[in-house]
Amino acid sequence: MIILNKVQKVFKADHTTITAVNQVDLSIKKGEIFGIIGYSGAGKSTLIRMLNLLERPTSGTVMIDGQDLTKISQKELRLARQEIGMVFQHFNLLWSRTVFENIAFSLEIAGVKKAKIQERVTELIELVGLTGKEHAYPNQLSGGQKQRVGIARALANNPRVLLCDEATSALDPQTTDEILDLLVQINKKYQLTLVLITHEMHVIHKICHRVAIMESGNIVEQGEVLDIFSSPKHPVTKRFVKQLAREDNSLKVARHLAQEFPDGKVVLLKFLKEKAEQPFITNVIRNFKVEINIIQGKILHTQEGGYGDLYIHLTGSEINAALNYLTQEGVEIEVIS
Ligand SMILES: Nc1ncnc2c1ncn2[C@@H]1O[C@H](COP(=O)(O)OP(=O)(O)OP(=O)(O)O)[C@@H](O)[C@H]1O
Ligand SMILES: [Mg+2]
Repeated sequence: MIILNKVQKVFKADHTTITAVNQVDLSIKKGEIFGIIGYSGAGKSTLIRMLNLLERPTSGTVMIDGQDLTKISQKELRLARQEIGMVFQHFNLLWSRTVFENIAFSLEIAGVKKAKIQERVTELIELVGLTGKEHAYPNQLSGGQKQRVGIARALANNPRVLLCDEATSALDPQTTDEILDLLVQINKKYQLTLVLITHEMHVIHKICHRVAIMESGNIVEQGEVLDIFSSPKHPVTKRFVKQLAREDNSLKVARHLAQEFPDGKVVLLKFLKEKAEQPFITNVIRNFKVEINIIQGKILHTQEGGYGDLYIHLTGSEINAALNYLTQEGVEIEVIS
C-alpha cells in the first residue's frame, strides 16, 4: 500500500548539504503496524514526513495505494492527505479549543456538515476513552489524554494510514503502554495501516509487526519484529535489541553459574514463536533420566508470538538424549559448559 522508491532528502543550509534520507526503498503492507527505529538524527522524522509530503523528497517516488504523491497537483495532494492521519510527539493541539473542537477542526476544514461532525466527534471521543472530557481544554489534560485527543483528531477523516512521529516519547511508561494498546485496538478495528517512528525498542517490540532500523539516513536492516529480535545482524540493531532483553550480562551470569555446577551441563535454550508456549521442560523431565535446575529465563511477547531464553543446568545419565529431543522439537541450544 505504501511503496517508497529510492527516496532521498537533501537539506542545503549555510553552504553545507545534509543527506537526511538516503535512497530509501520501503514497502509497507495494508493493515500492518510498521515501525522505524533509529537514534537521534538518523532521519526518521524526515522520512515519515515524506509519506504525506509534509517534506518533499529531493528525488524518488512515494506511492500510496498506487498514487505517486510526488507527481500530483496541490489540490489532489490535499485530498490524498485526508487519507493520511498524523500524530505528533508534542500533540500539536490548539490550546484555545476544547477537546471536542480540536477533534472537530479537521472535519470543519473538510467541509463536513455540523450534525455529522457532532456524531463523528462523539464516536471518536468514545473510541479513545475521553468521554466526559469533551469540554475540557488541552491544558486541563494529562499527557496521555492529550495524545488521545491527537489520535482522535488524526482519525477524524477516516484515514487509511496513520503516521505516528514519536507519539509516546513524551509519556511515562505506564501511559505509553496505554496509548500503544489504543493504537493496536484501532489498527485491528479499522485494518488501519500504522507507520510509527521511535527510538524505543519497547514500542517496536510491543506493537509492531515489522520494523526498519535507520542510521545516517539509510535503512540498515528490516524484517519481521520477531526475526530481528531473535537474530539482529547490523551493529545498530544489536544495540537496540540489547536495550530490552538478552543483555550480555545474562551470558556472563550463566558462565559464572556454570562454574558452580561442575557436574552435568549448563545450556541456553532459545524458544521462538509457538515454541515459547510449549511444556518442553516438563516433557524432558518425564521422559529422560535427567534433573533440571532453571538458572534464569525470560520470555517476551510480540504481536507475532513470543520468544525466550532459558538457561538451565542438567544432570543425570541421559543429558545428550534430552538435548537431542529438544533440538528435534526445534528449540535452539547453546552449550555454555
Ligand atoms: N529542515 C531542515 N533543514 C536542515 N537540516 C535538517 C532539517 N530537518 C532535518 N535536518 C537534518 O536532517 C537529519 C535528520 O533529521 P531528522 O529530524 O529526520 O532525524 P530524527 O531521526 O527524526 O531525529 P530525532 O530522533 O532527534 O527526532 C539531521 O542531521 C537534521 O539536522
Ligand atoms: Mg525526529
